[in-house]
Amino acid sequence: LMAALVSVLGCAPADKPPLADHRLDDPPPLTEYRPGAAGIGDPDFPTDGNGGYDVSHYDLDIDYVPVTKQLHGVATIKAAATQDLSSFNLDFSGMTVSKVTVNNATATFRRQGSELTVTPSEPIDVKSRFTVKVTYAGQPQPIRDSANLGTFGFVATPDGAFVASEPDGSKTWFPNNDHPADKATYDFTITVPAGVTALANGELVGRPTTAQGKTTFRWRERQPMASYLATATMGMFDLREGRTPAGITEIAAVDPKFKKSLNTLFKLSGEITDYWSTVFGPYPFSSTGGIVDDFAAGYALENQTKPLYGGFEPDPSIIAHELAHQWFGDSLSIKRWSELWLNEGFATYAEWLWSEHKGGKTAEAIFNQEHARPASDPIWAYPPGRARPEDLFNASVYARGAMTLHALRKAIGDATFFKLLKTWTADHRNGNVTTEEFIRLAEQLSGKNLRPLFDAWLFQPQRPA
Ligand code: ARG
Ligand code: ZN
Repeated sequence: LMAALVSVLGCAPADKPPLADHRLDDPPPLTEYRPGAAGIGDPDFPTDGNGGYDVSHYDLDIDYVPVTKQLHGVATIKAAATQDLSSFNLDFSGMTVSKVTVNNATATFRRQGSELTVTPSEPIDVKSRFTVKVTYAGQPQPIRDSANLGTFGFVATPDGAFVASEPDGSKTWFPNNDHPADKATYDFTITVPAGVTALANGELVGRPTTAQGKTTFRWRERQPMASYLATATMGMFDLREGRTPAGITEIAAVDPKFKKSLNTLFKLSGEITDYWSTVFGPYPFSSTGGIVDDFAAGYALENQTKPLYGGFEPDPSIIAHELAHQWFGDSLSIKRWSELWLNEGFATYAEWLWSEHKGGKTAEAIFNQEHARPASDPIWAYPPGRARPEDLFNASVYARGAMTLHALRKAIGDATFFKLLKTWTADHRNGNVTTEEFIRLAEQLSGKNLRPLFDAWLFQPQRPA
């Protein structure tokens, strides 16, 4: 209706709403430059991410001092405009911003809640590339969610920091487009007091350098990554570097408290990465591994190339889960949070597949056990295909999401099911995905109408028969 009205009135093209204060009898606006939206368009997280541009690369230069908890950062962000921009937003919370430049020219900025609004000295043309540089400092504060997310984002620890940001905590330590719909590559330059180790995604670029009591680590993630998967975890760590049996570069690190877990973590992560490569398709990144830090987060996070385990010795099942996420969640990222089952249902099903592979309970046995939950179990009232913003990580998204995949496997047979998994990961490698796309591919490969199955398992508030 809005578009029809606008084109009848003729004051703007149908795809651009008129300027808010432009009246019919005013002279036409001189330009079409408009502010980018404060959200990327995920209705459940209306201010996460931003409109009007697409980031291709983050260059994060960070200096952190654990004893004072002070962080100094310079974030250099390369982006392309998707509309004519008079201003645009980044997501950023806490600390103090001292300077912002756009294409090397000083820009004005304003902060309101978690929105950093940048007005460049020159407006930005649609499709043009631009570089934003934000200089900031302060003590990062994590997000503490009393409901069910726990503490996430940049969490200071006595010897460094535990950095795990799902769903939207990356704004606690660097300004960014904080939504998985905008993936980018990353360079990290992290300076810490000598003796402290800084770990980030991807691989080290050169050897760490030490001067005047400080060590600088350079890490590079060459594959596009969602901002919540970025990490700069710092502290005392024992490291083991090498290769998986199949030859993938691997880096494992554990807090000294978990010293005895290092070799197990390294061995299991290597073996599991290699096995998933045979089941899900080629490993999507240039290294694998894991980090165990001494912070009791109550969860693990599938940080790209280096899952982070929060204060516990990970067992094979959770390692299988976090490494399955490298395909489902990291390489193939969701377009909106309500479709989180595409991450958690798949990673949970991977736990069942690992058990089956190891001669433990079969996926079928685990499915039957889960399906036998009484009709009153809360997972039946919560349809996993529509994760709720206030209860994103509900057990249904995990367990009923996994059951959905097993029901699908039974309906289309093993050969088609495993071909589907590999086709899915190959078709959308380094991209973004939706449930609708998965259903369509499953129907296409099986030649079956699978709507009733997906509807019952993903969208109905009761136990499927
Ligand atoms: N994706 C993680 C996992 O299941 C869970 C992250 C939960 N995030 C949080 N803030 N509690 O492996
Ligand atoms: Zn998970």
